[in-house]
Amino acid sequence: MKTIKDIDVKNKNVLVRVDYNVPLKNGEVESDLRIRSSLPTIEYLLENGANKIILISHLGRPEGKEKPEFSLSPVVKALEKLTRQKVGFYPLPKSNEKISIEDDLKIALLENLRFNPSEEENSEEFIKNIIEATNADLYVQDGFAVIHRAHASTDAVKKFLPIYAGLLLEKEIENLEKATKSPEKPILVIIGGSKIEDKKPLIEKFLPIADKIIVGGKIAADGYKPDNKKIYVAEDFDENAAGAKLDIGPLSTAKIAEDINNSKTIIWNGLLGYAEDPAFATSSIITAEVLGDKDDATTIVCGGDTTGFVENLVKTHPKLHYSLISTGGGAALEFLLGKKLPGLEAIES
Ligand code: 3PG
Repeated sequence: MKTIKDIDVKNKNVLVRVDYNVPLKNGEVESDLRIRSSLPTIEYLLENGANKIILISHLGRPEGKEKPEFSLSPVVKALEKLTRQKVGFYPLPKSNEKISIEDDLKIALLENLRFNPSEEENSEEFIKNIIEATNADLYVQDGFAVIHRAHASTDAVKKFLPIYAGLLLEKEIENLEKATKSPEKPILVIIGGSKIEDKKPLIEKFLPIADKIIVGGKIAADGYKPDNKKIYVAEDFDENAAGAKLDIGPLSTAKIAEDINNSKTIIWNGLLGYAEDPAFATSSIITAEVLGDKDDATTIVCGGDTTGFVENLVKTHPKLHYSLISTGGGAALEFLLGKKLPGLEAIES
């Protein structure tokens, strides 16, 4: 895979597809994980003399319409704070229109790509127009979380410019490949969450290669009975006053901790209890802490709820560290399941 390190970016206008599909609350960015994760690429381009960095992204599912609640404008403030640079914000260009970025600006962000239905229709015209409007010389794909979609900015773009991977995309793929292609053994997969139907493909995929799969969360509380000895289902639970099993108990949590300590590759997907309520977050906190203390293993956290939870914990426990807190929910899962990812194939094509 060609990355930005393989090209000379000096004096080039670089169009960068990021995934700033971030949660918003009261008009502000609620979690900046995806924005922070894009900084290495932005900083690399700045340090290596790029002329302009033009960031493009989607946010939510506005169904091809300009809906203000899906505007990327709140991202500008977060981006300015993180990059310590002024960031220009521009509407999507109309056909044959040029975007003129002020001379003193290095970074620009365009409005939500999905305000135009052509993005999701994988329209060549649409992305060609953006390339021309921004005078882009180079195209960088750093939106790991969206590479499982065949959209104009992930797929059709390959017709017009060679695509180089950004540093976030490279890091995500490198770590996910470590866990799938040549994982160091013992391999442990920890699965939580609420629906067994959603997790079955992951269990089936990893059953032949994992040394152990641990299942917690509501799936375990609902009485999931595996048909393979490699799968351990949490056996004790913490309950609320009404007797609902809302977290896995100390015995099961201790087993997870012990298995983490004995493993060299660990993938964690899905919270182990009803962690929104601090009273039932204990097993997820302990798992995140034991995993984040480990230095001798590849440790991967994936899935929207799980990554959000771990990110929050890291804010108050900055020593916790992981090989990868994946920014891609669906994309990471599809990669782990060995599915074809259009955005990745476009880079390789
Ligand atoms: C995500 O958050 O998983 C990505 O940004 C993709 O969003 P989508 O599921 O709306 O295509």
